[in-house]
Amino acid sequence: MAQVRRPMMAANWKMNKLIREAEEYVAQLLPRLIDNEGVDVAIFAPFTCLQQIGRMTQATPIVVGAQNFYFEDSGAFTGEISAPMLKDVGAEAVIVGHSERREIFGETDEMVARKTSRAIGAGLLPIVCVGETKEERDTGEMWDKCSGQVQSVFEELDKKVRGDDIVFAYEPIWAIGTGDMASPEDSQAAIGKIRALLEELRGEQFASQVRILYGGSIKLENIGEVMAQKDVDGGLVGGASLDPVSFAGLVNATLSS
Ligand code: 13P
Repeated sequence: MAQVRRPMMAANWKMNKLIREAEEYVAQLLPRLIDNEGVDVAIFAPFTCLQQIGRMTQATPIVVGAQNFYFEDSGAFTGEISAPMLKDVGAEAVIVGHSERREIFGETDEMVARKTSRAIGAGLLPIVCVGETKEERDTGEMWDKCSGQVQSVFEELDKKVRGDDIVFAYEPIWAIGTGDMASPEDSQAAIGKIRALLEELRGEQFASQVRILYGGSIKLENIGEVMAQKDVDGGLVGGASLDPVSFAGLVNATLSS
């Protein structure tokens, strides 16, 4: 059964912006979005900005999300933030397993799986990131790495979870922040394989509902060709999302591709 997936354009601000800067950003972004219907727009902001962004975007369909959380709901986990806490400040989504979390903070596939499962259970939409290093790509281990990351998520995930309860992002690590985007053909090849794996794991209906984004050095000049690929459902954007004019351009370009 053919499934129309709504595209998603997501800003990952990483560890950038104070509350005042977030306010200025949202004030500049909103009037620049030409159509709120055809694309889901999401902003993944630092914890400290979430409440204010939520207030400013309340009357809009913009999805407000966090960049990480911990899978326990409360307790002796100094410095961590839980899913109910994110809900409490108005977050609706959360990035899980970004390569910077995996590489710098030692998050394992098992932690990513538990976080994904807890996010869905708490009513947050998880954007689960997978992707290989340059070395893994060069030594032919790209698919082992990515398929392992996807598979481990499903070891934890309840069978009742629907395809539209989860989003994946294929973010080759060598393409993040380097200006060296994966070619549209390579993005399609990787994302197409991820979708085929989802079908193997949970069936055709499920796989056809899951949105899979591409991330890594997206900019206005290259967004059209990557979005034109049949299995690519949107983008997770770092650097080019920090400026509201640039991000609005990416959102609007998604509508026309
Ligand atoms: P860049 O767009 O800066 O390459 O970052 C991609 C990314 O990591 C988004 O999560």
